[in-house]
Amino acid sequence: MARDRAVVEETKCASATRDTTRYYYIETYGCQMNFNDSEIVASLLEQMGYRATTDIKNADLVFINTCSIREKAEETVRRRLRYFQSVSKSIDRPFKVGVLGCMAERMKKQLLEEEQIVDMVVGPDAYRSLPQLIEEVESGQRAVNVLLSREETYADIQPVRLGSNGVSAFISIMRGCDNMCSFCVVPFTRGRERSRDPYTIVAEAADLFDRGYREVTLLGQNVDSYRWVHPQTGEVVHFAKLLQWCAEIDPRLRIRFSTSHPKDMTDEVLHTIAQYPNICKYIHLPIQSGSDRILELMRRGYTREWYLERIEAIRRIVPDCAVSSDIITGFCTETEEDHQMTLQAMEEADFCMSYMFAYSERPRTWAARNLKDDVPREVKIRRLEEVIQLQKQLSLRHNRRDIGKTFEVLIEGDSKRSSSHFKGRNSQNKMVIFPKVNGYQPGDYVYVRIDDATSATLLGHIVTNH
Ligand code: SAH
Ligand code: SF4
Ligand code: F3S
Repeated sequence: MARDRAVVEETKCASATRDTTRYYYIETYGCQMNFNDSEIVASLLEQMGYRATTDIKNADLVFINTCSIREKAEETVRRRLRYFQSVSKSIDRPFKVGVLGCMAERMKKQLLEEEQIVDMVVGPDAYRSLPQLIEEVESGQRAVNVLLSREETYADIQPVRLGSNGVSAFISIMRGCDNMCSFCVVPFTRGRERSRDPYTIVAEAADLFDRGYREVTLLGQNVDSYRWVHPQTGEVVHFAKLLQWCAEIDPRLRIRFSTSHPKDMTDEVLHTIAQYPNICKYIHLPIQSGSDRILELMRRGYTREWYLERIEAIRRIVPDCAVSSDIITGFCTETEEDHQMTLQAMEEADFCMSYMFAYSERPRTWAARNLKDDVPREVKIRRLEEVIQLQKQLSLRHNRRDIGKTFEVLIEGDSKRSSSHFKGRNSQNKMVIFPKVNGYQPGDYVYVRIDDATSATLLGHIVTNH
């Protein structure tokens, strides 16, 4: 009874205050870490009393969480800002616009100068200052905070899961990057590498499990260099230990992680992956190039031989593990021979999937300062096409090998194409589509026998006696 009354009162209260509720709208670009940051921003805004809206016209504050990794990513943001400007002009109550994330960090005040619509510029380590910044903006000023931090990990903030399927979630375990690969803007936009308190990570994963989630992905630019020292006891926690602690929360909670770095990935981590069935047998291990000369210029810290030895170690220690990669074509001075070496390395490593990009010069990076971006655009694109074509063949070959096998699949929801089919992933991170069977729902594990495959998907049916 008491409970019912409370609900009625809450509803009344909500309708009485509806007109004064302030709304935020947030759009996110870039990597998964940025998506996770938007969930932290959402949490901070909700603590301030803002509510989420998906209708930009209804918003008081419009945020865009941005990416600077390639020029194209920044062009997309500029286009969206133009669009915000046109919407804002067309409505009675214009909204304020905040630029968050990596482009905010890279461009700082310059963004305010170049983009009239922007009221607020907030770097990735400055989200805790949003209340003050919003106050400034509401009083008619423009506000900037792009201070980078050596400590900030937002460890105590519980992210508001935006657009979640209720089954899988992401947890940032570290921020920044110290690697300084010569092509990469991330060390400039995200600052120094720092690891988050593992006890808060495990607590967050356990809480997600209690709320029905069945898969967490631990995120960092280089998870293998995760290292946390207990400030009082001096206890040191490395990535292998963190993986183990997460895996021990519950065998029904799947653990994924990204990104692994070839120069730092240890056998110890591989043994931990092999030991726990709920640590997924999938490693994203970007090679970038198959040529030693280019890897050296990229300052990646490994050779082709070292990389392929790491692949061998994976095959030896975690035999059923799938490996995916990132590849850049047309990096400074790349010759046809270097390019051929990349194609060969892809075959040798037998990637199940790759993210592939044409090199885009980024301001302030070592490459921008010291090397000439001398591979013509058409050549970069042609090589990219070749890399994409080869990967398509490798993916198809990989997936065809799975026909006839049975996998444990975590159901994520309806398949995109048909509501009579479910989609889910196997441990190797492959998307599996299969007809629904009564009694199963998202979050359940099922065994699926694979009948067919494309380069992107496995198709199968649920089996009860496998
Ligand atoms: N920390 C991860 C990568 C993060 S960025 C790692 O070290 O592997 C994601 C990918 O974007 C990179 O792996 C790289 O392939 C690509 N990338 C980064 N900078 C780029 C640039 N300037 N031009 C083209 N692709 C780039
Ligand atoms: Fe960029 Fe290299 Fe750091 Fe990855 S490891 S984020 S590519 S600097
Ligand atoms: Fe982009 Fe920043 Fe991620 S540059 S890829 S959003 S760390």
